[in-house]
Amino acid sequence: MLVLGSGIAGLTFAIKAAKRYPDRNILVLTKTIEGESNTRYAQGGVAAVWNPEKDNPEKHVADTLDAGAGLCKEEIVRIVVDEGPERVREIIEWGARFDKEKGSESYDLAREGGHSEHRILHYKDLTGWEMQRTLMEEAAKFPNIQVLEHYFALDLITQHHLGRMVIRVTPNIECYGCYALNKLNGEIDTILARVTILCTGGAGQVYKSTTNPVIATGDGVAMTYRAKGRVENMEFMQFHPTSLYNPNGENPSFLVSEAVRGFGAVLKDADGVEFMHQYDDRLSLAPRDIVARAIDFEMKKRGTDCMFLDCRHLDKDGFMAHFPTIYEKCLSLGIDPMKNMIPVVPACHYMCGGILVDAFGRSSINRLYAAGECSSTGLHGANRLASNSLLEAMVFAHRIYLDLEGKLESWDFQEDAPDWNAEGTTDPQEMVLITQGLKELKDIMSYYVGIVRSNLRSKRALDRLYLLYQETEELYKTTKISPQLMELRNLITIAYLISRSAAHRRESRGLHYTTDYPDLLPFVENSVL
Ligand code: FAD
Ligand code: SIN
Repeated sequence: MLVLGSGIAGLTFAIKAAKRYPDRNILVLTKTIEGESNTRYAQGGVAAVWNPEKDNPEKHVADTLDAGAGLCKEEIVRIVVDEGPERVREIIEWGARFDKEKGSESYDLAREGGHSEHRILHYKDLTGWEMQRTLMEEAAKFPNIQVLEHYFALDLITQHHLGRMVIRVTPNIECYGCYALNKLNGEIDTILARVTILCTGGAGQVYKSTTNPVIATGDGVAMTYRAKGRVENMEFMQFHPTSLYNPNGENPSFLVSEAVRGFGAVLKDADGVEFMHQYDDRLSLAPRDIVARAIDFEMKKRGTDCMFLDCRHLDKDGFMAHFPTIYEKCLSLGIDPMKNMIPVVPACHYMCGGILVDAFGRSSINRLYAAGECSSTGLHGANRLASNSLLEAMVFAHRIYLDLEGKLESWDFQEDAPDWNAEGTTDPQEMVLITQGLKELKDIMSYYVGIVRSNLRSKRALDRLYLLYQETEELYKTTKISPQLMELRNLITIAYLISRSAAHRRESRGLHYTTDYPDLLPFVENSVL
């Protein structure tokens, strides 16, 4: 079994598969080190109905549907909400620590935007780090899991590589594994597998400002699209309202968790005046799309670079116990959150769309599954509810593992797959062509397909992307493969998918807001490409 990615989705699946199939090898490829992933940076926590006296699944379902603005698949929402607590219990059994209330055995449940109850389990403001640590330690116990670090998956192998014509409507496309670049020796390996699970995470790096680490380049979605698999809802890129504004620029942008607002912090302008009442009754804890748009609007109206988060009235000991990393980071920039307001600005944070999968993580390509941020299960619809993604990744990793029961035997290795053909390529002469291409791409997306969109901006983006696409494909045909070149190619595909879906959606819904169609359409459609 081949797993691409070593974040929460990839490792959860690998652990379950290794336990169930001790005689099978589970190969996990990861493009840098095992611990580097979006998962590792998750701060706020994992949402799950945990306190039956105050909370219940219906409330979590209702909050998720409300945030998703009419595009969630309700049956998927129910699956994730109902099965989520069991998956959380499982990772606790594997050793994950979540904070408890002082002097009590009860978990300290936090609250974030769009949640009607306190239901976020967390480990200080380092929840993702703790989950990633737990998963890596658990995975290391299984001799049949092999994690190959610095292995960059380039393309999925399908019938196309056997010389057959494969187009988007070809029935029964099959995945036989992938080609992967061993970054340590520069060789490209053909990796065959009975089944391939894509867990390659998000694509925040398509924008100039993002909370996502540099690995988040949408590789899995781009590979699937190139293999003629179905992708959906790519216009719904979520901007987190509160990344830390750093005038010196920082990639990734540091996140100031929504849990800080759940703890009582309030959004204000530079003069300390609140503004969220003009946008939503839930004020600073309105769903993310609303808060991010409000901040964007206020910044543009005032011509300022940031807005502010006021924590000065909060309990210092409580704040430092829950948010030690945020506190330290602010101090390192000369901001004492107990004395100064924290400057914040929206940053791209999460890809709500992705590889179209069903309730068991099956993609439109046979023998290819997807879980975690690279997939589109129907849970998030037009806007993800905070802290639902770690939950979704665990639930779907589990459901994929369930779906494999009885199937592996019927899938053989496709020994006819040819090796990668690098004929006619030479070492890159000018890396600047790639680095400059990436800068241009991020500019295009940030200026034309960001938080606020319009027909004209989408058209500009698509026109410019086409040029960049042509230039980059030329480089790809003639240059030896490098991770930088592949990431640029993948990000251009992601940018195209976002821009095209945005141009098609003639309404404003959830995270997609366009000045040409500010209202909702009466009928609701996913954008499947
Ligand atoms: P990732 O954890 O991103 O893992 C992707 C893996 O794929 C990595 O190992 C990467 O190296 C590998 N990979 C990618 N491309 C290739 C390739 N071509 N070849 C080989 N390997 C490849 N969600 C919550 O629910 N709660 C939170 O509190 C929360 N906070 C967040 C805070 C931050 C700053 C960020 C960035 C995200 C946050 N999220 C949160 C979102 C959540 O962390 C992610 O959606 C989730 O962790 C994604 O998990 P994943 O397993 O799908 O992908
Ligand atoms: C945060 O801590 O604000 C991020 C939570 C999330 O993205 O779900």
